[in-house]
Amino acid sequence: MKTEMLQTVVANVEDTLTSEPDLSRAMERVVAILKREMPSYTWVGIYLLEGDELVLGPFLGKPSPHTRIPLARGICGAAATGKQTIIVDDVNADPRYLACSLETRSEIVVPIMSGSRVLGEIDVDSDRPAAFHAEDKTMLEAVASLLATKLERTQ
Ligand code: SME
Repeated sequence: MKTEMLQTVVANVEDTLTSEPDLSRAMERVVAILKREMPSYTWVGIYLLEGDELVLGPFLGKPSPHTRIPLARGICGAAATGKQTIIVDDVNADPRYLACSLETRSEIVVPIMSGSRVLGEIDVDSDRPAAFHAEDKTMLEAVASLLATKLERTQ
């Protein structure tokens, strides 16, 4: 997808977070924007860190069995522990992967950080192999940064 289109997605998220005072509703709307604007994003969700578990908040896509993920488990746990975005081109080749849907082929997990503190993460699955590239990482990290500001203000 073209850089300008991805910048429009980020601008759309920023407007939404500015105009929506309710945190849950704001997160729901961000998930909806990503799902709607990005055709390869089959499942989009936000996890928030509670103690040493990632707890699933708003999501769009098939219901996931992984509503609470300990930090020691999954690609989600690895991204939160490592405080870095993880892109997995082939989830079936990654032993850390916790399956959500049999159709999922690739995944990106982007931590939502406040300084060096992890607040949560954006998790996106795709039914396409190797669906996530550097521009998805850049866009989702910008969205994560906006979400961090919102979470800092409301927590
Ligand atoms: N695949 C993730 C689990 C979350 S579901 O994809 C929604 C993981 O390996 O941590």
